Amino acid sequence: MALRNTATEFGSLAKALHWLVAIGLFALVYLGLLQAGMDRGPEKTEIRFIHGSIAMAVFSLMTLRIVWRFMNDVPTHPEGMAVWQRVSASLVHWGLYIAVFVQLTSGGMTVATGGKALPFFGLFSVPLPVAENRENHEFWEEIHEFAWQIVALLVVIHVLGAVYNHFIAKNDVLRRMTVGLRQQR
Ligand code: HEM
Ligand code: HEM
Repeated sequence: MALRNTATEFGSLAKALHWLVAIGLFALVYLGLLQAGMDRGPEKTEIRFIHGSIAMAVFSLMTLRIVWRFMNDVPTHPEGMAVWQRVSASLVHWGLYIAVFVQLTSGGMTVATGGKALPFFGLFSVPLPVAENRENHEFWEEIHEFAWQIVALLVVIHVLGAVYNHFIAKNDVLRRMTVGLRQQR
């Protein structure tokens, strides 16, 4: 499998980044909600630390992913796909990129305006050049507590679209983002 995308298939790097980010996002939503239901204490702090660290990794992978996307061809939509489907697929993809970055930014700003540096598994931490401020902290926290639901909603629509294309429309949309999947006949 080629590293770069072709006109008919995503390359191995785009696939690896797509699935790593997907796993990272599922973990982030799970850990975010898990710590939200916990009382203050060392366990909650530890889960926030892991949540923030995974988010830093997702931020790097998403940035690399977008740069790589602009350096590559993007596989064209399958022949015969309706215009509304092409448009909605692209809207959901760009919506996902934007919503994930809003979520990453609001998370980073929540921590930074709370007066802390962004952690990365204890290896290093990144202090953002932002002042500690209670009001701003609450502003970013509210965005963070809301925007993940947009990410989740778009992911649900996206997955339903992938399943529809594979099992009902029987085109190669899911096959070209996966490894070893056979196209339905
Ligand atoms: C796309 C990436 C991210 C996703 C999907 C995500 C998801 C979540 C979720 C679902 C919650 C619980 C919200 C609630 O209480 O209703 C949460 C809380 C939190 N996240 Fe994230 N997060 C992301 C990125 C980040 C980043 C980059 C940081 C900072 C390094 C961060 C720090 C926090 C903190 C401190 C909380 C607790 C805030 C509070 O008091 O409610 N998150 N996150
Ligand atoms: C089980 C979960 C998922 C499945 C089955 C899935 C499936 C797919 C498939 C089949 C494509 C190729 C679409 C095409 O060729 O037109 C794709 C592309 C894409 N996926 Fe997913 N995906 C999943 C999770 C996610 C998640 C969590 C995100 C969040 C960032 C995401 C973001 C994207 C984006 C932005 C593209 C467009 C790639 C591009 O053209 O740059 N996916 N996905």
